[in-house]
Parts: sequence; C-alpha cells; structure tokens
Amino acid sequence: MKEQDPKLIKKRFLKELKDVKTSEEKKKICKKYLEEDLSSVFSSFKNLPAAEKARVGRGANELKQLLLTKMEMVKETEKEETGWLDVTLPGKEPILGNIHPLTQMQKKCEDIFSKMGFVTIEGPELENEWYNFDALNVKEDHPAREMQDTLFVKQKGREGLTSKEKLLMRTQTSAVQVRYMEKNKPPLRVIVPGRVFRNEATDNSHEINFYQLEGLMVGEDVSVANFKAIIGSFFQNLFATDVEIRLRPSYFPFTEPSFEVDVSCSICKKKGCSACQRTGWIEVMGAGMVHPNVLQSAKIDTSKFTGFAFGGGVDRLAMIKHEINDIRLFYGGDLRFLKQF
Ligand code: DAH
Repeated sequence: MKEQDPKLIKKRFLKELKDVKTSEEKKKICKKYLEEDLSSVFSSFKNLPAAEKARVGRGANELKQLLLTKMEMVKETEKEETGWLDVTLPGKEPILGNIHPLTQMQKKCEDIFSKMGFVTIEGPELENEWYNFDALNVKEDHPAREMQDTLFVKQKGREGLTSKEKLLMRTQTSAVQVRYMEKNKPPLRVIVPGRVFRNEATDNSHEINFYQLEGLMVGEDVSVANFKAIIGSFFQNLFATDVEIRLRPSYFPFTEPSFEVDVSCSICKKKGCSACQRTGWIEVMGAGMVHPNVLQSAKIDTSKFTGFAFGGGVDRLAMIKHEINDIRLFYGGDLRFLKQF
C-alpha cells in the first residue's frame, strides 16, 4: 500500500525533484505525484478515523498546491529554455475605433458656426405637440401632423390631452426654437443639431430617423442679407471649395418669407451631373425669416426683433460631401462602410 501521509509524500517528492536535472524529468515527477500519490491520499481519505481527517485533509490540500505550483514553474523554465523571441515580428496592431461619419459632419458644422458666434444647444427627442407644431405656427389640420408622418407616443386618455401634453418623437429640430426663445431673449444665435423621427417607408434617401441641423438668429435688424452671408460662408467652409448659394422661394409655416437653399454642385461645377440630377444645383436646407407668430409664441417683441431660421439634414450633407448614395448605410452598422471615414 502507498504512503498515505501527505507530509512524508511531500518530503519524498522534493527530494526526487532535486535529484533530476531536465525540465522533462521534473515534469514527469510532478505528473506522477499528482496522478498517483495525491490521488491515492484522496481516495483513502474516507476510511480515516474522524480525528485524522482534518489533519490529512489540510496536508493533502497543501500538497496539491505545491505540486501544481512546481508544475507551473517547470513549464515556465521550459519555455525560457526552448522559446526565443523574434524581435523582427510586427507588433500587434490595436483595433482603433473611429468617429461615425454623421458625428464627424455634425462636429464640423458646430465648429464652423461657433466661429461665427453661434452657440450649440440641444433639445429633447421626446417632444410635445405644442413645441413641435403649434408654437411653430403649424396649423391644426397640417398634413405633417398626421399619424402617417409623425410618430405619436401612445398615451392613456389621449382624447382629452392638450397639445402641451400630447407626446411625440420630434419630427424636426425646429421644435427647439421656441423652447430656447422662452428662456433666452435676443440677441441670440444658436444652432441645434439632433436626431429627428418620421413615420415613413425607408428608401435610399429616407430613414425613419435621421439628423438635422437647425439654426436661429434673432436680433434687431436681422435680415435675409445676413442669412445669405452666413450660410454662404458656412458652405464655403464645409465643402472647402468655391460653392455658390441660391435661394428659391418656398413655404414653411414657421417662416415668412421662406426659401429653399441650394448649393452649386461641386462635382460637376454646375455643368450638370447625376449627383445634381443634371441641374447644377443641390437642395440642402429650408430657411426663412422667422414668422411673427413664432416669435410671439416665445413672447418676443415683434416690433423690435426679427430673425432668420434654417434647418437641413446632416445625413444629406454627409452624403453630398462623401458621395454616398444610400442614407441607410449610416444606420446599418456595417464596419466595412463606417471604417472608411
Ligand atoms: N424643419 C424643416 C424640416 O424639417 C426645415 C426647416 C425649414 C427649418 C425652414 C427651418 C426653416 O428653421 O426656417 O423640413
């Protein structure tokens, strides 16, 4: 029968280990003690008298620890003996993330506007109907308010709710205009980047959510000329080329007069190409002089102050700048796409 006293086994083990030289032999000894001697101590354990169990148990555990540690040490020295380090191997390249192209575009816009004195502010994505529509002079029967276009939030007893209580996912960053003007009096210059939501089918130029950049400047004697100068300077900086700006008459409930802003196509230099649908111009945002009703929603004196506002898609700007033909690529999470920026 094998020796059952852990203390004696330990002594024998250490002696045997000392007597051999190579790692190979040392490993063999560790393995033998782990598999044979230690196992036999454990298997005879149950037959021991109760008084002995505690002592032998402790000893056996200590022995197991010792055997495992020695085994590890032998393996380590073995590695040092046989292993070698190839210092000419290339290092492991860390995987670096990069900033999403939409965030890059947003930051770039913020940078340009901040140099022209515009402060960047934010507003809530979960908005009420009043700030998103009523305060902006959007009439009750305007089609944009329809459930087909706007994502309303289900609320119990929605029937009796006022428009300040009815919740929706904001459809436009314009909703922040009156929020801001209630708390801050003119002169003011702000931009509002942010996510907006629409209840619509997706295709290569429509997404259920996307990003907008809103701008608002209110003061004494603010005019369309100021707007044109500022927006022209913005696009010059953004596209870093000589782009031209064109204003076309349009309609928005919250501005009067209203315009669409076009930039000259930087790809074909106004000659006409597929990117600009052969017109030489690309529509980039809506804008106008803030409607007096909107200023009044924020209790601003319309006899003293005027202002302009504008708003456009950040996605669209990024698509134009990088010549991307499908808005859905921004939201697909495909790293092969995202890593290019
Ligand atoms: N909110 C409009 C939209 O989502 C864009 C817009 C047009 C914003 C004219 C404005 C503006 O501030 O003056 O289509």
